[in-house]
Amino acid sequence: MMPLLQVQHLSKAFGGNQAVNDVSFDVHAGDMLALIGPNGAGKSTTFHLINGQLLPDAGEVLLNGMSILGQTPHALSRMGVSRTFQVAQTFASLTVLENVQLALLSADGLGFSLWRKATQYRNADAMHLLAQVQLDTQAQRPCHALAYGDVKRLELAMSLANQPRLLLMDEPTAGMSPQERHALMALTRELVRSQGVSVLFTEHSMDVVFEHAHRILVMARGSLMAQGDPQSIAQHPDVKAVYFGRGTRGARRAVSADDVEGVSSASVATTSIGATITADKVSPT
Ligand SMILES: Nc1ncnc2c1ncn2[C@@H]1O[C@H](COP(=O)(O)OP(=O)(O)OP(=O)(O)O)[C@@H](O)[C@H]1O
Ligand SMILES: [Mg+2]
Repeated sequence: MMPLLQVQHLSKAFGGNQAVNDVSFDVHAGDMLALIGPNGAGKSTTFHLINGQLLPDAGEVLLNGMSILGQTPHALSRMGVSRTFQVAQTFASLTVLENVQLALLSADGLGFSLWRKATQYRNADAMHLLAQVQLDTQAQRPCHALAYGDVKRLELAMSLANQPRLLLMDEPTAGMSPQERHALMALTRELVRSQGVSVLFTEHSMDVVFEHAHRILVMARGSLMAQGDPQSIAQHPDVKAVYFGRGTRGARRAVSADDVEGVSSASVATTSIGATITADKVSPT
């Protein structure tokens, strides 16, 4: 069967810095794929090349066999590619339900100028999305009153508004407690199982990666150095060298989640649900 996403020989340099170097991999329907590697390995840049925020110097990205290079994040959202961010993108002053309604409005290609007239906009669908992330009981709370882990779950619900086939999650659990991390990724894994969404995520916590990923891609200094199931990756000699400090220069920081927590790049976010929302986005603190 044709892979959902094909990344072929992708390369991107910033000046003399080869951030992504001839990277190729596939994402299949129902995959939960982790992209790991030390700080600066090129993970976020790879995401940006896939979701249209950056154009590659070379290579191709195919969705269901068709090139998506040059498509805007908003156009990709309409093709069923969705994303979440390291810093959740939600409207703090609106309720949980309203945040999801806005995501639905955006997914439907409608402008927010309709918002005041449309407070009932797809209410039942919004509640259904909230139920999927177990936030329905908090629907009427203002977003700023939520615990951080709940904000991330809300962002996940919002990223599902366009019924994505592929969900890109760049450090979805950054800033979360170990318990919250596992809860969010268990929830994500359940969405993969129940809805056939494919997920590509980056993550610094090896606990989370090895517990929740079906397959793991390992990047170091721009190149993909290994890919395989968690067991084979755990045994891979080059991966061990990167993660336990023998060999690859500059890789020591990724030894554990706590070691890297908070120092990874705060990649510039646009929005998880399309361009229209960008101007007004607020980040929870
Ligand atoms: N917009 C940019 N301009 C110049 N250099 C960049 C840009 N974005 C990334 N880089 C560089 O490209 C390399 C890869 O960065 P990237 O953010 O993709 O790494 P990462 O694997 O996501 O790291 P982290 O785990 O810290 O998030 C780094 O050397 C980084 O400094
Ligand atoms: Mg990154």
